[in-house]
Parts: sequence; structure tokens; C-alpha cells
Amino acid sequence: MEFPITRLRRLRKTPTLRRMLRETILRPEDFILPLFAIYGENVKNPIKSMPGHYQLSVDLLGDEAREAWALGIPAVLLFGIPEVKDETGSTAIDPEGPVQRAIKAIKAAVPEMVVITDVCMCEYTSHGHCGIIKDGDVDNDATLPLLTAEAVSHVEAGADMVAPSDMMDGRIEAIRDALDENGYDHIPIMSYAAKYASAFYGPFRDAAESTPEFGDRRSYQMDPPNTDEAMREVHLDIAEGADIVMVKPALPYLDIIRRIKDETSMPIAAYNVSGEFSIIKAAAEKGWIDHDKAMIESLTSIKRAGADLIITYFAKEAAKVLRENSL
Ligand code: PBG
Repeated sequence: MEFPITRLRRLRKTPTLRRMLRETILRPEDFILPLFAIYGENVKNPIKSMPGHYQLSVDLLGDEAREAWALGIPAVLLFGIPEVKDETGSTAIDPEGPVQRAIKAIKAAVPEMVVITDVCMCEYTSHGHCGIIKDGDVDNDATLPLLTAEAVSHVEAGADMVAPSDMMDGRIEAIRDALDENGYDHIPIMSYAAKYASAFYGPFRDAAESTPEFGDRRSYQMDPPNTDEAMREVHLDIAEGADIVMVKPALPYLDIIRRIKDETSMPIAAYNVSGEFSIIKAAAEKGWIDHDKAMIESLTSIKRAGADLIITYFAKEAAKVLRENSL
């Protein structure tokens, strides 16, 4: 049936009709809030390029978790900024490190909150790369034991899930084995499966103080033009034991999210990264864009593409907008 019998505008006429026919519904339960745990006490360092976000010392993280939980956000993703960095990132496994202590503080404040930890070396190495350096590049196999030790250390501290973001080959299998050997076969792994070498991580590297001192991450993170390669990464991680696969960044890679959705039955997380957040913040500050509408539209598009979970710095603000139904 064609125009003029069919008129698609009929069902768009009123807010109620539009509400009834909405195909994708965003919920606070979809969100995971990233948090930056720093050493020290009573520290709340604003992250300049990420308005509303801070490096928080462990004593302040409990309240932050309580606030997120009260808004309906079920999970946080923890990053750590250690006091000391060295060539091999040895402080990553310090039981008194910021992440290990933050896990305990958050679980004490909100026992039901799902505490996920980012497993990577770049916040702990003096050179800022995601593993051990040999001949000017990250040595894949020498890095694996460090990652497994870090993952076990987080779980020993009480983490509910680990999320390796380093992009070394074979790390999911290595971490799965290490967790199982240590009695943690019930702990899921959310793998940063298709993680691209992206320009959109800039603000995060200020937040986590993890900018590489030389070179870039293109020898381990994926080349942005590739989609078949993303599927190879995803299938390998599934075979190695990943429980959730992640696409990162989100908005420039919605096609990848959709392709994984269509070709696998895995739960998919998408990381709406720092640059995606800061772009909207900056444009809204200038009065060039409606902040809340752009935020909700972006998050909805990520869910519509097929993401089951969205890691986003907008988590609290978006949860508020959804709760107040203010759009
Ligand atoms: C660590 C890591 C990064 C991000 C998450 N984990 C940075 C990077 O790979 O350089 C980026 C997150 C963001 O931009 O919000 N490997």
C-alpha cells in the first residue's frame, strides 16, 4: 500500500502515540559508570576535559557509588591512578592499590553494586603502554602473566567482574585459566574485544594519566577501517571464554555493534568513550547543541544498534533525565 493510503506521519502525531510505538527504551539498568580511583585521601581532582568527572580517592568513592545506585545504575567500571609507576607496572597488583581498596570501599557502601575492573597495564607503566616493552613495542606473551596477576588481584579484593582492555592476543584464555585455578570460576570476563586505536580516548588519558610516552597504540589496538577483523577478535574472545564482548568506542562503530549482534548471541557492551562525552559537553557549553537531547539520542542509538550494556560517563545525568522523564 502506498501514499496516499499509507501515511507514516499518522503514528507520529502525538507524544502518547510516539511513546507507544517507541522501539528502543533506554533504562538506567543499561548503564555502567566509569570511575577513577586515585591514591591519597579526600582527593577530588576535576578532570578538565570531562566536566562532572573527578579522580576520586577511595574514601570518597563509597558516596559516589551510593549516588549512582540510588539513580538505578547497577554497575561501575573502575580505573586506578597509582602513586608509583614503573617499567613493568608492578603496582597494578598492590593489594593496597587504589583499585583494590576502591573495590572494598564500594562493596562496603553498596554490596549489591556490580564492581567491574579495567585490567590493563597502561595506568601503571612509566611509559604508558599497555604491557611490557621490548625493542620499542609491547611484548605480547611477556605481558600476559602481568595481566592475569592483575585480574586475580582485583578479584581477590572483591571485584565481581574483570574487563581486560589491553588488546594482547590470548589474554582472555590466560585470565580465564588464572581465575579458575584460583577458585574464581564464577567470575565473568567482559572483554574489550573490538577495541579500536581511536582518537576519541584523548580526555580519558588525561583522567587516567596514561598517555603513551612514545609512539601510539596501533600495534595492539585495531585499525579503524576494519570490520571482518572485529569479528575475528570477537570469535576468538568467545572461544577463549569471554562472557560479554565489548565494542569501543561506540558511536563511530555502531555498524560493528550491529554486526556482532546479528552474527553472535553474545551479550554486547559498548563503551561510549571520553571523547564522545566531551564533544557533547563542549558543544553544549558553547550553546551549539542541546545537551540532554544529544546525550539521550546518542545513548539510544547505541542501544538501537544492539548494545545490551553501555559504559558511559553520562550514566548519572542520563539516569536523572530518564527518571524525571524530562525529554
Ligand atoms: C586502557 C583504556 C583506555 C580506555 C579504557 N581503557 C585508554 C586507551 O586505550 O588508551 C579509554 C576510555 C575512554 O576514552 O573513555 N587501555
